[in-house]
Amino acid sequence: MSDAPFSDAPRIDAYDKVRGAVVFGADDARPDILHAALAIATIPKGRVISIDARAASAAPGIRLILTHENLGHVKSAGFLMTGGHAFQSLQPMLSPAIAYRGQPIALVVADTLEKAIEAAALIQATYSTEPVSVTLDAPGAETINQADTPLEKRFPEIIAGDADRAFAAAPVKIDARFTTAPQHHNPMELIATVAEWKDGKLIVHESTQNAEGLRHGLVAALGLTPDRVEVISPYVGGGFGQKYAMQMQTVLVAVAAQRLGRAVKLVVPRTQIFHDSSFRPAIRHRVRLGADRSGNMLAAIHEVDAQTSRHDLFPAQYAAVSSRLYGIKNFRGRERFVRTDVQTPGYMRAPFEHAACFALECCVDELAYSLGRDPIAFRLANDTATDAVSKLPLSSRHVAECLLRGAERFGWSKRIMTPRSMRTDDGSFIGWGVAIGAYPCFIAPAVARLKVTVEGGLFISIGTHEMGQGIRTALAAAVSSKLGVPAANVVAVIGDTRASPQHMTAGSWGTASAIPAAIEAADAMLEALTKLNPGGSAARTPAEILKAAGRASLEVEVRTKAPGQPDEVYGRIAAGQLSFAGPVYPEFVTFSYSAHFVEVRVEPTTRRVRIPRVVSVVDCGRVISPRTAASQVRGGVVWGIGAALREASEVDPRYGGFLNSDLAEYVVPVSRDIGCIEVAFIDKPDFKFNSAGVKGLGEISMVGVAPAIANAVYHATGRRVRNLPIRIEHLL
Ligand code: MOS
Repeated sequence: MSDAPFSDAPRIDAYDKVRGAVVFGADDARPDILHAALAIATIPKGRVISIDARAASAAPGIRLILTHENLGHVKSAGFLMTGGHAFQSLQPMLSPAIAYRGQPIALVVADTLEKAIEAAALIQATYSTEPVSVTLDAPGAETINQADTPLEKRFPEIIAGDADRAFAAAPVKIDARFTTAPQHHNPMELIATVAEWKDGKLIVHESTQNAEGLRHGLVAALGLTPDRVEVISPYVGGGFGQKYAMQMQTVLVAVAAQRLGRAVKLVVPRTQIFHDSSFRPAIRHRVRLGADRSGNMLAAIHEVDAQTSRHDLFPAQYAAVSSRLYGIKNFRGRERFVRTDVQTPGYMRAPFEHAACFALECCVDELAYSLGRDPIAFRLANDTATDAVSKLPLSSRHVAECLLRGAERFGWSKRIMTPRSMRTDDGSFIGWGVAIGAYPCFIAPAVARLKVTVEGGLFISIGTHEMGQGIRTALAAAVSSKLGVPAANVVAVIGDTRASPQHMTAGSWGTASAIPAAIEAADAMLEALTKLNPGGSAARTPAEILKAAGRASLEVEVRTKAPGQPDEVYGRIAAGQLSFAGPVYPEFVTFSYSAHFVEVRVEPTTRRVRIPRVVSVVDCGRVISPRTAASQVRGGVVWGIGAALREASEVDPRYGGFLNSDLAEYVVPVSRDIGCIEVAFIDKPDFKFNSAGVKGLGEISMVGVAPAIANAVYHATGRRVRNLPIRIEHLL
């Protein structure tokens, strides 16, 4: 394939989305569908003693009330990260135990949504309560070293050289502690399930990043055979990690649909989602960073305490990125879990990388300042072409280009280094900050089936999910030009377990996994067409070749996997098991990189922080779909601004749960918070990594934004704020 850049084609589903023609999980308005609502626990922790559903059952239009007393034979689908399929091992309503506030205690099914909501509010429960620990420092929160758990095998402590000795000997040092607040994904689309049974088969329509996992989760929970479950998820209205595994309501809705012999729909209200799915846990860090007087970083020690639930250990992989941001020869990571009374946390966009790079990149800035070095020059001097942990070569790393190109676009040369030295005409302090980000590059195995028809159609069925990031557009771009078929004629069947195996799409591996498979399938198709058209004109379209050969259609299948993966992975993906690999491959290590440049304006009396402009330069390998890629980065920057200045899930140690569980109180950036976001790509293919030369983009676009903001706030105010989100009271 040529290195020619792809065209700036529009999103192929844009028109359908604007018209409302795209069908999401809950877009099922058939007249006979039944509606469900959840009743939830109103205690922080304890047990249900009794449930009184008499008033609810007597309400009009009520069809079914499920509680732990009548749910029947349902098992937990198990925690995804320990070989199961759900976001946590605890399936609510299997027992009277209440592990956290907001845990579902009953599912009410009624003729209308209003009746279901009303009856759910009539469910009365009595409880016994137990003491609750919901913060990192709460009495009763239990701290465990990850290295002392079975997770150590998959996520070993990261050690390179002798960091403690090198740090002790370093002439210039930083030792700083950071905290980041728990946060919740708030995609536009709510979590929702539509379940129906047809001829003994369970069909679930639910927006998910992991249709195959959801399918096999239902198989495990309900004791079915896989041929009896289908999951259909053609579009997701925002995933961001929230929809990476089976949610808690899915199996409950499936049971209700089976009992009633009708299709049942549940849309989980936003306030309940704060407890019905995963979240970004509370984290605290201590970073020690040492350098010599000429500005070489010699040692880094990164210690992390990350919140988890009582029932699961959500693996911590913070040091995996902080160890590799630069070529620091001596590194020691230590990750501990803090068990608290919450649902199990999970992946939220750049789950480890955002927080890890925040802590490290704030320290790097501070170190540069202690040495009197420009923060960009200091970073360039500590660049590397080798992975600092494994010592393997990096398949590509264009951090220096990101920094240099970004500095140029941003106008960094006009920066005065001294804090509080740049002001606007109205007296606001101007702060210019920079930080870099790194995100591991993974690949998941993929099976691609490509079919051309004599009518001119081009169908691709492949394991991936459209979450709004634009994978359909990228797939169409990848196959249409090769086969001489207009992109608009490409039909992609994805997120559908009736098509190819649908491995989880997350970790920014979607494009790097699906696009090479799609391109290789297009190559296989070209070869098959050539066989059908021996000696024929190369200019003929697939439809013309099929017509001349008297064929209605032609189909090919290819399979792709990560470098070094065994063929068994194809069996694993068909069974809904996680099978991604990376970022360490047998012969190299692969990361995506970014550099973010942020201008803040701090109003001198109120200390209100505004961000008029951001410049982001990203090294994600080759850019397949420039328009949707730039859109991804702008979205990531907005997330970074939210994480740095706005978003926090508020916790009260007395009550448990998350208290600001709606979009009025959980504050996300709005249009007026966002100024100009300028995006550029290095756009150099990484063909060592895969045949399409693409790395990953979805999450690297957020990594480094928060520290760039914190560093800009320092430049504006002279204050190093080490707790996110940064608030006015930190700056007064
Ligand atoms: Mo992403 S947080 O891995 O969906």
